[in-house]
Amino acid sequence: MKHYEVLYLLKENRNDFVSGQLISEKLGVSRTAIWKYIKALKEEGYTIDSSSKKGYKLISSPDILTSEEIKGYLNTKYIGKKIIHYESIGSTNTTAKKLAEQEEENGTIIIAEEQTAGRGRIGRTWSSPKYKSIYFSIILRPNVNPMEVPKITQIIAAAIIEGLKELKIEAKVKWPNDIVIDGKKVCGILTEMSGELNKVNYVIPGIGINVNLNKEDFQEDILNKATSLKIETGSTMDRKVILGTILNKFEPLYEEFVQKGTIESSIEVCKNNSAAIGKNIRIIQNKSERQAKAVDLAEDGRLIVQYENGSFEKLISGEISIRGLDKYI
Ligand code: BTN
Repeated sequence: MKHYEVLYLLKENRNDFVSGQLISEKLGVSRTAIWKYIKALKEEGYTIDSSSKKGYKLISSPDILTSEEIKGYLNTKYIGKKIIHYESIGSTNTTAKKLAEQEEENGTIIIAEEQTAGRGRIGRTWSSPKYKSIYFSIILRPNVNPMEVPKITQIIAAAIIEGLKELKIEAKVKWPNDIVIDGKKVCGILTEMSGELNKVNYVIPGIGINVNLNKEDFQEDILNKATSLKIETGSTMDRKVILGTILNKFEPLYEEFVQKGTIESSIEVCKNNSAAIGKNIRIIQNKSERQAKAVDLAEDGRLIVQYENGSFEKLISGEISIRGLDKYI
């Protein structure tokens, strides 16, 4: 789309006017066409100064998660090289699955400003109000055994922890799918896959991060269990920076997995930032509950627990609830 080429030129010269003549020469378009592209960009929320003498200057960009906006923050080889952006969608995971069935490539990101049918784990819904948070899914095509797929959730968790750390936010992994700050959930991961007995067709990790939600954006009954980055840091956060930083952290960790078959680096991050290890937990499986102590994270990402009778088990997946000083998270 040509209007984005105009945008790139304006971005390259962020603090200066770019003359209509230069744009016209570089892109091989008429002055009238430039005017139309500028109008289209303004309609997308870009503020652009126009001067008949000096040309055009980009003043500000909208807070949207389009490829054009995120690109500048990415230093990946293939993760996020293609970003498919929706203003509103049912669920990014559902659309990612459809696109993966149509051969969409490895590393493509599906992102939405709003989800009208956001999905959480075990049939729950994921509230996804417009522009407030980050809702995205990644199409991955790892050449691994389906048994290995749960490791991808640990890799995503590690990338989020590392990404947030770079932004000076300390978070923890509540094994296996949640990221928490001070005992409250700030991010959830829903990893889905399609495959056969010994072959993976594709894996779709879907990530929902509560970014700029205020307390009143949460329903009363989850206020003591959920939080947002804004609530925790006291300031509005730039969603583009968060997303770019997380994707940059994800790619090398994922590469370790597909190339060496190990997730050593991700496990180290998840272990060092675990909300569960060392805590008494309740393990919820098939509607039954057992008490145990979380003692370690195995090298394949399974949680090692010890029961009251002294026996150990490595959990593959499942829900746990952690006993803190006075509450479970
Ligand atoms: C959970 O904690 O239950 C997992 C929540 C996952 C939510 C994300 S938002 C983007 C992606 N699309 C969905 O419909 N769900 C995931």
